[in-house]
Amino acid sequence: MLGVLLLLSLASLVALVPPPGAPPVPCRRCCDDVEPEESSGAEPPVGVFSHVPEVRTYINMTILKGDKGERGDRGTPGKPGHEGPPGPRGPTGSTGTKGQAGLPGDPCKAQYSAFSVGRRKSLHSLESYQALVFDTVFVNLDDHFDMFNGKFVCRIPGIYFFNVNIHTWNFKETYLHIMHNDSEQAIVYAQPSDRSIMQSQSLMLGLELSDEVWVRLYKRERENAIYSDDVDVYITFNGYLIKASVEGK
Ligand SMILES: *[C@@H]1O[C@H](CO)[C@@H](O)[C@H](O)[C@H]1NC(C)=O
Ligand SMILES: *[C@@H]1O[C@H](CO)[C@@H](O)[C@H](O)[C@H]1NC(C)=O
Repeated sequence: MLGVLLLLSLASLVALVPPPGAPPVPCRRCCDDVEPEESSGAEPPVGVFSHVPEVRTYINMTILKGDKGERGDRGTPGKPGHEGPPGPRGPTGSTGTKGQAGLPGDPCKAQYSAFSVGRRKSLHSLESYQALVFDTVFVNLDDHFDMFNGKFVCRIPGIYFFNVNIHTWNFKETYLHIMHNDSEQAIVYAQPSDRSIMQSQSLMLGLELSDEVWVRLYKRERENAIYSDDVDVYITFNGYLIKASVEGK
């Protein structure tokens, strides 16, 4: 800044080179003759102008420059700028290392269904068919056996084993069926006799979902009955899944 000011003041000095009061210099073009063609009496002789000394206006700025000043204090930081647009998506990272193997599955995970129920009260035949219902539970896994109506309800399709045990009543007939839904599958039968005995029947059945298996007492043609008492359980009905149709996952 100081240098520029000095330069300006020097330039104004240079502009004063033509001495004040000097006659005006006629305008001359590069191609004009040295001698003006029309010479008016008011013009001064050319020689007067050529004697004015030339002034060179070259200024060495390096000399004008002062010494470098001391470094100023650091200014306060400016406000943060606006957030820029999101950058382009980076390249895909390298594949990670393989994870650890999980816990082994259980290939033998089985599905279970089993029940074992008993009856302490004896039962006589009625005019119509009746389901043999039970009052004692030994096993009833997941309540697949409905104690209310005496029917096992299939929750896991597959092959099942069933067994029924009863005690006959002397001088009375014994006449029961193991039922699959409404169709008779196997009979437990004993003619009237003066000796009461234990009787049993067993079978396997392939069941679908919701199939029912139960024991039905025959309707009265001749009086038939099964015996039990409060002291012992004479009547049992048992069943369990042997093999499920679809193995557990
Ligand atoms: C200007 O002045 C400096 C210092 O005296 C000198 O070193 C430099 O050569 C000069 N520059 C010119 C173009 O004369
Ligand atoms: C047995 O009965 C159940 C319930 O009524 C029914 O869902 C099922 O399909 C029946 N099964 C057969 C083999 O009839």
